Amino acid sequence: MIITSTDEAHAELARLFAQSHRMTGFTGAGISTECGVPDFRSPGSPWMKHRPIDFSLFIADPLAREEAWRRKFTMDDMYAGARPGRGHRALASLVASGKMGAVITQNIDGLHQAAGTPADKVIELHGNGTYAKCLECGQRHELADVRQEFERTGAAPECECGGVVKSATISFGQAMPEEEMRRAHEETLTCDLFIAIGSSLVVYPAAGFPILAKRNGATLVIVNREETQLDDAADLVLRGDIGSILSPFAASQ
Ligand code: APR
Repeated sequence: MIITSTDEAHAELARLFAQSHRMTGFTGAGISTECGVPDFRSPGSPWMKHRPIDFSLFIADPLAREEAWRRKFTMDDMYAGARPGRGHRALASLVASGKMGAVITQNIDGLHQAAGTPADKVIELHGNGTYAKCLECGQRHELADVRQEFERTGAAPECECGGVVKSATISFGQAMPEEEMRRAHEETLTCDLFIAIGSSLVVYPAAGFPILAKRNGATLVIVNREETQLDDAADLVLRGDIGSILSPFAASQ
């Protein structure tokens, strides 16, 4: 069933939330666009200007690393000051109520945590862009220090151990984080309601979780402005603006 009326969407969500014993949230870039963070595939997205730099190229080519850091800092300046939106706050309230066990997110902007969802309830499948780490020894590197060094030397940063330093995000071609994948799998299989919000659902393995939830007997709800690849599999599609659809469930902050 596809609903385009916001009022009807509110009523349906309230009914589903009331009858659910355990929900899992799943989010993509669409939940952050109202916060000023661009998504990846909407027309005009700045991310569409460049081909993503594959992990193998980042490792092999210092020039690719320099370009990757340049893009990262440009985007960070766009994100700077981004505050959580109505969708983040709604999920934070659902987690605080005990109804939602965890939020599986593809986003790297840290806005679920900033909205008050405890970090241990946010499962970041594509890592986190608010810090960097050494690919060799795993040491954490603060972005402010990395940026200062990068702007001073123009060279991509290296760790004291000689390892390559990278933003703590998962790039195309990079192995998915094992613990996060395990936890996402577990939360997907324990919920009776799986709500996928603001994702085009085209990137795997992340987009496999809504399918797994449905196959496991959960009710699958998709909230998105445009059609997604999994609309046909969903029990309910709420087509519209995420902030408007979820705002009644966001505790006022
Ligand atoms: N309300 C509703 N839907 C919205 C809104 C909004 N305010 N803003 C954007 N959307 C929708 C877009 O229509 C789009 O379908 O959110 C979806 C975002 O899809 P993508 O841009 O493809 O982002 P996402 O699905 O998160 O991408 C997955 O791809 O590039 C990789 O690693 C990156 O995590 C990312 C992954």
